[in-house]
Amino acid sequence: MKTFAAMCSLAILLAAGCRKAEDKSANQKPAEGSAQATTPSTPPPAESVEIAVSCGAVGQEFETCKQGVEAWEKKTGNKVKLVSSPTSSSEKLAVAQQLLGAGASDVDVFSVDVVWPGILGSFFLDLKQYSKGAENEHFPALVANNMIDGKLVAMPWFVDAGLLYYRKDLLDKYSEQVPTTWTQLTATAKKIMDGERKAGNKDMQGFVFQGKAYEGLTCDALEWVASFGGGTIVEPDGKISINNPQAIAAIELAGSWMGTITPTGALNYEEEEARTVFQSGNAVFMRNWPYAWALAQDAASPVKDKVGAAALPKAEGGRSAATLGGWNLSVSKFSKHPAQAADLVLYLTGPAEQKRRAIAAAFHPTLPSLYSDKDVLAANPFFASLADTFKGTVPRPSTVTGEKYNQVSSAFWNAVHAVLAKQKSAKDSLAELSTNLERIKGPKW
Ligand code: GLC
Repeated sequence: MKTFAAMCSLAILLAAGCRKAEDKSANQKPAEGSAQATTPSTPPPAESVEIAVSCGAVGQEFETCKQGVEAWEKKTGNKVKLVSSPTSSSEKLAVAQQLLGAGASDVDVFSVDVVWPGILGSFFLDLKQYSKGAENEHFPALVANNMIDGKLVAMPWFVDAGLLYYRKDLLDKYSEQVPTTWTQLTATAKKIMDGERKAGNKDMQGFVFQGKAYEGLTCDALEWVASFGGGTIVEPDGKISINNPQAIAAIELAGSWMGTITPTGALNYEEEEARTVFQSGNAVFMRNWPYAWALAQDAASPVKDKVGAAALPKAEGGRSAATLGGWNLSVSKFSKHPAQAADLVLYLTGPAEQKRRAIAAAFHPTLPSLYSDKDVLAANPFFASLADTFKGTVPRPSTVTGEKYNQVSSAFWNAVHAVLAKQKSAKDSLAELSTNLERIKGPKW
């Protein structure tokens, strides 16, 4: 069966160069012998439309989404154009803001980071008018996160939590345990890295994570700060809390990793750069999201069967903290085909598709019912062992800061990046950040 999914980048869409190519391929004559060629007089269903979707681009996100939309195309007779997007959540947000701000109808369905509903919610349709209560099957906290001014602006699609990946074989070789504190992680990473380098692997690293100045660093650094008992940058009551001794100690420790257990190149790592180093066998530990599990376990992966996933370490006296991440799907209010777009969203976020995605690519479902599904658990043994990690995730301060969240987050990631890059001390950087955040807040959030 021929698929009509075509690719076209969001950036190109902005330059309006994509539509033409799409139209051309859509009008191409069917190949000889194809179903359409043998039944030329069969018109497409009267209501058949083309929906453009922006899926993600990290790891297997694009491919897994493509398989889902192809199934929906088959089921409904509609066509889907897959719009490729940047890998960085921050860059994706900028592109979505540009498109939606211009009132463009080029993209009908947007994938929406959990921290965006407060920023983009006014551009999305209320899905309640189409959902027939489907949202009630999802985790209530995720649905609540997507309610803006009484409207359900996004349907939960998958949920993320930061995890510690480790090399089981190397911990065994050096008689070390999975670290539960940052002090242990620092020491174990150093010991194994030094040992492996001495044994000939000059590329071996101790710990890799997302150190680039973007949303991913906000996620990682929030985990460090929260696990030291240093709060969540801005507290749920709106108080700016980041300039405190525990937060300073956390960021100082992260700064000390740079150039020792973490390569300075990590200053430019997103999720995939960290995964590439780890999966090629060149890191003892990695902080990443669940999707990295499926790829590490892939038949072609050099570390297949050598990897474990655990809760992230904590400070002595602190508690392990995993940032809550994840993605939703929303329908643009500029869509020319809102009903079909909403149908696609409900299909992609529904139980069959979420189950398929969990098994194929370790995307954590947003439907509690799938957490007792045998097939899902068999493909992802850590779903059960890390259930507490998923229950206790730390949200970024996006609800309280609303439309200003991205300004808050970028001030935070830049302040942390300056410490990792050894341009500023943690004490100075967080003091400055606090002043910046007060300015961003103004009289109120
Ligand atoms: C993952 C998370 C998302 C987060 C992003 C940061 O995609 O699901 O919530 O913002 O990583 O890089």
